[in-house]
Amino acid sequence: MTETVHPVTDEWAKRAFVDNARYEEMYQRSVADPDGFWAEQAKSLDWIKPFTKVKNTSFDAPDVSIKWFEDGELNVSANCTDRHLATRGDQTAILWEPDDPLTEGRTITYRELHENVCRLANVLKSHGVQKGDRVTIYMPMIPEVAYAMLACARIGAIHSVVFAGFSAEALAGRIEDCRSGYVITADEGRRGGRTVPLKVNTDEAVTIAEAAGARVNHVIVVKHTGADVAMKDGRDVWYHEVIDGTSADCPAEPMNAEDPLFILYTSGSTGKPKGVLHTTGGYLLYASMTHRMVFDYHDGDIYWCAADVGWVTGHSYIVYGPLANGALSVMFEGVPTWPTPSRIWEVVDKHKINILYTAPTALRALMGAGDDHVTKTSRASLRLLGSVGEPINPEAWEWYYRVVGDSRCPIVDTWWQTETGGIMITPLPGATALKAGSATRPFFGVKPALVDADGKFIEGAGSGNLVITDSWPGQMRSVYGDHERFVQTYFSAYAGLYFTGDGCRRDEDGYYWITGRVDDVINVSGHRMGTAEVESALVAHPKVSEAAVVGYPHDIKGQGIYAYVTLMVGEEPSDELQKELKQWVRKEIGPIAQPDLIHFTPGLPKTRSGKIMRRILRKVAANEFDTLGDTSTLADPGVVNDLVEARKNNG
Ligand code: WTA
Repeated sequence: MTETVHPVTDEWAKRAFVDNARYEEMYQRSVADPDGFWAEQAKSLDWIKPFTKVKNTSFDAPDVSIKWFEDGELNVSANCTDRHLATRGDQTAILWEPDDPLTEGRTITYRELHENVCRLANVLKSHGVQKGDRVTIYMPMIPEVAYAMLACARIGAIHSVVFAGFSAEALAGRIEDCRSGYVITADEGRRGGRTVPLKVNTDEAVTIAEAAGARVNHVIVVKHTGADVAMKDGRDVWYHEVIDGTSADCPAEPMNAEDPLFILYTSGSTGKPKGVLHTTGGYLLYASMTHRMVFDYHDGDIYWCAADVGWVTGHSYIVYGPLANGALSVMFEGVPTWPTPSRIWEVVDKHKINILYTAPTALRALMGAGDDHVTKTSRASLRLLGSVGEPINPEAWEWYYRVVGDSRCPIVDTWWQTETGGIMITPLPGATALKAGSATRPFFGVKPALVDADGKFIEGAGSGNLVITDSWPGQMRSVYGDHERFVQTYFSAYAGLYFTGDGCRRDEDGYYWITGRVDDVINVSGHRMGTAEVESALVAHPKVSEAAVVGYPHDIKGQGIYAYVTLMVGEEPSDELQKELKQWVRKEIGPIAQPDLIHFTPGLPKTRSGKIMRRILRKVAANEFDTLGDTSTLADPGVVNDLVEARKNNG
């Protein structure tokens, strides 16, 4: 394949914060003198008590410990609201675009944001929430979700945002895991013309969590669609009722830089989702600095990150990064394809968006709908495009560049993870020549490396597993309540190194090309799914004996979910059962976890010691029958032929 290189234009090199010479110089400094570099950058935040120490980190198991600015004090909500009041109180902070284009949107100024946050913070306090308490946020994409996050930050409560597409079951597990005594939700959510029963799910989740020993004191409910929902006396309160008359005067709690800010659950290769823990100072610095430099955000720009706040992208690049920078952040309740595949571009024109950040899966879906939906809109306001969540294939990249951006807008393909808090490998628009499909070069302070299976460093051009050799301020600090799991998951594969779980190639120019997960995590439409989670949902069904789940190539989703299922003795495969199992997984986890294909099989390929050979299952699912490799170590090699035949017949 021939690579097209898109050089930085003179105009971009001039207008951007960072051109290539500056990138080189700053990058060198950031890795040679992290203390000096980050101390200087940290001046961009408002500190209540200045720090005297900068970096204090160790990647050496079992004593992994990550601390940044450990004796400094600040408050995240004060950094995102109070400090902007004098200079931009009347400027829009959040521009809300509703699901239905025919209904009216909302604009929230920094002054209004500040007032709303303070009121809700006082409401939380008056309902008993204290510093360090966990508050679960299960909300649609409406401005109140940002108020909720910032209100927690204001009083030092730790929020755990749960994606509104997760089921009651999944919500219950997360409430229970962090012993969250409070939930903030809405009557219903809206997405793509449909409603999501958030309060009904919350009620069910609280029942499940309490049966398992958790205790939920209060549920605060935002009236959004006006649906008739049950309110439990003494426990449930309406947001608008408790806010009304509550004082908007709420001093921001001074927080240590290493006090927890939030927990965000994410899937790994084993067990239940982990509560990724981020803290206050390092996270906010990293989120705001990457937002400013990667998107080259200048005052007056209209910026739209089309992610959901239920994921880390929404945390760092809808709420914390942009608001810390005093930016205008567009918040979108809907989906890219409703009511028509032109919706994104219509929103771009309506609000004169300059910077758009979205995911490859959305681009592939829109690309499939035809160019007319794009070309009939203007998009003249666009200046910069971003991509996140999964590898972007060169075809989708070129389409984004040529059709969406009229070959005028650089694309920043940003590689990062829930664990990293912010963008790690990315072009900077004024500094980096682009190659379609490459996340290009590390951000300041990030030291990536490639290792082979034995942990030996790969120098120069080559492929291997992607590790990061030293800490950066946005790094997660622990798995909530389970530091050992943190150490085990990220620092045990390669001694002294943070293992990302991703495979990667580095080319002759030192550019990084992420190739996807090398562990048992699959990436479905940019959402992380642990195969173990889907498997345990399936085997919880009374008719299922055993299940093995793998990812397989999917045109739009990137990866689809392929489930091999063995039934209990006496049960027969059928189309109905296949439907029932898909429905079952939706209920156990949520629609995003629903298997695309269920392959009933009398047996699974196992080694003599009983280990399922996933390598073979992946190959069969991908229709790669010629490269199955050695099957002689299997307990029953015949199983593989049966699987291959069945796969061929399924098409
Ligand atoms: C994948 C999302 C290639 C990767 C911010 C990573 C990407 C996982 C990219 C993290 C990209 C994210 N190119 N792959 N630009 N961005 N990924 O935690 O496999 O939801 O490990 O964070 O998504 O997903 P997470």
